[in-house]
Amino acid sequence: MIGSINGFSKLNKEEKINWIAKTYLNNQTAVVDLIKQYWNADEDLQKLHDEFIENTITNFYLPLGVAPNFLINDTWYTIPMVIEESSVVAAASKAAKFWADRGGFKATILNTEKIGQVHFMYKGDKQKLQAFVQAIQPVFLADTFSITQNMQKRGGGILAVELRDKTQEIADYYQLHVTFETKDSMGANFINSCLEQMATTLKREALSYGAFDAQEREIDVVMSILSNFVPNCVVRAEVSCPIEALASSEIKDPVLFAEKFVQAVRIAEIEPFRAVTHNKGVMNGVDAVVLATGNDFRAIEAGVHAYAAKDGQYRSLSHASIENGMFRFWIDLPLAVGTVGGLTSLHPMVKIALQMLQKPSATQLMQIIAVAGLAQNFAAVKSLTTTGIQQGHMKMHLMNILNQFKATDEERIKVVAHFEQHVVSHSAVVELLETLRK
Ligand code: HMG
Repeated sequence: MIGSINGFSKLNKEEKINWIAKTYLNNQTAVVDLIKQYWNADEDLQKLHDEFIENTITNFYLPLGVAPNFLINDTWYTIPMVIEESSVVAAASKAAKFWADRGGFKATILNTEKIGQVHFMYKGDKQKLQAFVQAIQPVFLADTFSITQNMQKRGGGILAVELRDKTQEIADYYQLHVTFETKDSMGANFINSCLEQMATTLKREALSYGAFDAQEREIDVVMSILSNFVPNCVVRAEVSCPIEALASSEIKDPVLFAEKFVQAVRIAEIEPFRAVTHNKGVMNGVDAVVLATGNDFRAIEAGVHAYAAKDGQYRSLSHASIENGMFRFWIDLPLAVGTVGGLTSLHPMVKIALQMLQKPSATQLMQIIAVAGLAQNFAAVKSLTTTGIQQGHMKMHLMNILNQFKATDEERIKVVAHFEQHVVSHSAVVELLETLRK
């Protein structure tokens, strides 16, 4: 069958590329050459990247940009950002400068607890199960000691093991709901290893628990896995200033600006269609730093959006207020990130990104990421409620359009000069290029 293959994983990289070229790319040597052009000339470096994932055929570049001038809790940061979308880095940089002139960003860790669950089925008396889980608490800790001892030395470990009765939703379904402190690591491997051991302990101890009958002894574990929903691992980032201090060359009427801004945020708090786009703007900043620092952006995305819907309706992650003449804008974000483990000590660019951030602890990184999200959100909502988003976005997108049409250096200079005085749009750029090429 064309397009299907057994044993693909056993082929070497060249063979994999050749199979893809033959099957999907009409054996075009130019395409194969292009794939290989993206290999790193340093074979060791390439091997490192090849081994991050499976079936690697080449590298996929994303730009690493930096946003300077972030004043966070009185420390200056230049924030590394990995993102493909134009205007995000510029917007973050602009917001950073704006708030640096007004006291900078404040960031506070509200809590740092992570969660994992053992999902299991138990047919029997609930009280007996409760007593059993209580009785084996020391056994859970003893059995996981070899996994937790180093984490305990760093001040982390298992915080609590709670039995949760979910039988109202699914017959016979219970959970061990376990909370963890994982210090500077994101903790996924640590948590999952602890949970798998606890599942083994649960089943083994049940078999010899005197109060159980034969059926109750047969606890059936469905799965053991961390949760990426971390509503108790939250950081708050905020900015505030007297309303009149918002005045700038762009903000002529700070009262009107503040009122409109607060209205825009309020709309995102109550209207899910707007909230999703509003939060996408937040995630422009968040994901870019999460990626640059080698963290798991899928976990962060899933957790953040669950948090945005925690009361049953999807809402804005950020909030704004005007009180006693003060403008305040803040965000609470659940962020389970690490600065040790995972890619952090493997990917050369991640190492540099963390160095640039002055080797932050996990909680410092949470603060930096939340600030990047808030800054991004501020820039977008500021544009939306004043000039509209397209003016700045298209100004930054100009280079992409010029690249798409393979503009020469001479054309670029002329086009850029022209659009210093005119609003950029795709059609206006194409029209100008056509005129220049006549
Ligand atoms: P501007 O005022 O035209 O920029 O803003 P400027 O040329 O006057 O420069 C001012 C500062 O902006 C610079 O200071 C930089 O900090 C930054 P300087 O470095 O000169 O001291 N800046 C740049 N940084 C790096 N490279 C550049 C650059 N240009 C300016 N080339 C800007 C232009 C795009 C910043 C502004 O219009 C803006 O903030 N727009 C918002 C853009 C945005 O939010 N983009 C995200 C993508 S849109 C989206 O996905 C989300 C959205 O749907 C979310 C939502 O609905 O809420 C909008």
